[in-house]
Amino acid sequence: MAEIKPYSMCWLEYTDLNKYRDKYRRIFGNIVVLGDNSLNLPLKELRDFLTYSLGIKPKIFRNTFANTSNFVLIGKLSDVRKVLKGLDEFEFSLGEEGFLIKKVEFGENSILILTAKEYVGLIYGVFKLIEKLKLGEDIDKINFLSNPSLKFRILNHWDNLDGSVERGYAGNSIFFKDNKIIINDRTKDYARLLSSIGINGIVINNVNVKKKEVELLTIPYLKKLKELAKIFSAYGIKIYLSINFASPIYLGGLNTADPLDKRVSLWWKTKVDEIYEYIPDFGGFLVKADSEFNPGPHMYGRTHADGANMLGEALEPYGGFVIWRAFVYNCLQDWRDVKTDRAKAAYDNFKPLDGKFMDNVIVQIKYGPMDFQVREPVNPLFGGLEQTNQILELQITQEYTGQQIHLCYLGVLWKEILEFDTYAKGKGSEVKEILKGSVFKIKNNGMAGVSNVGDNINWTGHDLAQANLYTFGELAWNPDEKIEKIVERWIKLTFGDDEKVVENISYMLLNSHKAYEKYTTPLGLGWMVNPGHHYGPNPEGYEYSKWGTYHRANYEAIGVDRSSRGTGYTLQYHSPWREIYDSIDTCPEELLLFFHRVPYNYRLKSGKTLLQTYYDLHFEGVEEAEEIRRRWIELKGKIDDKTYERVLQRLNMQVEHAKEWRDVINTYFFRRTGIPDEKGRKIYP
Ligand code: GCU
Repeated sequence: MAEIKPYSMCWLEYTDLNKYRDKYRRIFGNIVVLGDNSLNLPLKELRDFLTYSLGIKPKIFRNTFANTSNFVLIGKLSDVRKVLKGLDEFEFSLGEEGFLIKKVEFGENSILILTAKEYVGLIYGVFKLIEKLKLGEDIDKINFLSNPSLKFRILNHWDNLDGSVERGYAGNSIFFKDNKIIINDRTKDYARLLSSIGINGIVINNVNVKKKEVELLTIPYLKKLKELAKIFSAYGIKIYLSINFASPIYLGGLNTADPLDKRVSLWWKTKVDEIYEYIPDFGGFLVKADSEFNPGPHMYGRTHADGANMLGEALEPYGGFVIWRAFVYNCLQDWRDVKTDRAKAAYDNFKPLDGKFMDNVIVQIKYGPMDFQVREPVNPLFGGLEQTNQILELQITQEYTGQQIHLCYLGVLWKEILEFDTYAKGKGSEVKEILKGSVFKIKNNGMAGVSNVGDNINWTGHDLAQANLYTFGELAWNPDEKIEKIVERWIKLTFGDDEKVVENISYMLLNSHKAYEKYTTPLGLGWMVNPGHHYGPNPEGYEYSKWGTYHRANYEAIGVDRSSRGTGYTLQYHSPWREIYDSIDTCPEELLLFFHRVPYNYRLKSGKTLLQTYYDLHFEGVEEAEEIRRRWIELKGKIDDKTYERVLQRLNMQVEHAKEWRDVINTYFFRRTGIPDEKGRKIYP
């Protein structure tokens, strides 16, 4: 029996797969390992899975084939090539993190090879092999080679030392408690989960680095971080830290953090030397500078490039990276100021610096120009930056998308973002191609996701929000994969392969983002949330604040004119997008209110007015949320009771809160316009 854990192992759970036992027994009864003890970990993963899920107790042979005819062969490519011929081509096609699973036959013998150039590839590979077995896939003729498309596949934890998680909806931090670093069984299991979806880096602390967290760079914490890093490192994952740009003042006693001051750069160099003494494979720093009250180089009249490069120099000798966030805007705007447009800020700040960053500096860019709304256009820095390494930042945690109370599967949106063609170099310049390095000659790119994980027993609060985490990893590994396939795989791995279960949960996931968008702020409007915690509707919650987030609704029209006649934001895009977005007639309707100020009586392509469309979408959105719940209820008895109830409870809340959204938003528009719903449905006066 596998050890019973007090928390879910998500898609890695050992379920009873006796039904596949005969299919796999012949090959998996023997495992030959080539190489030393360093391969113990992938071996253990495979052995545990075979034992606990398939009831196969394999015999293990080390560096010998004696007495074995059918077997699994695990080893580095260099070792495998010494004993098997015909593998030359893989020397070229396998990347550093890639792996190969291949079946070969020798006379009567069958060998299933799991190989990779590096240890890390064997780890990724073993999890993929386990996944295939769990799905009952045919491996008789398998010849599966996989390399990650993106180099950086990172999670950002917004965890604080006191154990709280900024924008966390799944309990407390799994890393910190009472200003201490936690290391327990869960640490390793988290590393296993992430490794199984190809994640290769985690930033463990919040981008807002407050006074206490600055101390993470001091020796007592570094000692503990060393232990933590070792656990993750065994699974191919590097540790990164978010840093406060003013650390030399807080920790070094300097009176400045000016990046061009020699004392400051020396302080960082010395600090970095110290970090690498403890954590030899430390990934690097994530920096939120000159953003939302965090210090940065602007305070000293320096540029982001000055700041980032100074840190880059300190990290370079060790192969470390600086990940510098582009989330920079004026967060002290006066709502009366109609000229400043927050949407323009990232591009305005970073486009002039293109080409000025060191090679080990990466600019991390939020997917949209504002802040993770349910829909925004793709940030024009993608396609705008041609000589700068870049990471696409996505929010897995559902800050603006229902806070893991609502089911809102984000894979659908992420896929659209990755497939957005920037036209930077004409057709075929999709975001995913830029990240792969195939559009510009920049290679240190990737994806970062703000983690949705906490210490809840299911890690993500909403059980179905695990799908968002899984999808993030899978897309970062292969952004070309079809989202429907990822969804189907996740469901089967998590809930088994009952047809109805797969059909209904697929429906729920694939339709949930659209539903959420409809009953909240469709057509690119965004915001309208309660200030501070950002849950629930509040049409003017951000209307008179300092954050630059206004819709400026009056009795006739709503939205900001971001066209060339307005704030000029559309000009940050390449053609043809700049023209398409610029005209109200050609602008995609799902983004209409992002780009244009639109009168309520404006007729959309359907022939309906904007106002009527808004009413309709809100009624539809609630109906869709109800349908999503109905699909779950149909699965009663097919899902374990506890999970079923937990999810149902959240779906019930979702329907109620969707109604709240519908009614508050509809009433707001009704009160502004005095125009009732054409269909006579209930809108509160
Ligand atoms: C959002 C979020 C903040 C976070 C910030 C960031 O504004 O509400 O909590 O710190 O994004 O990404 O830095």
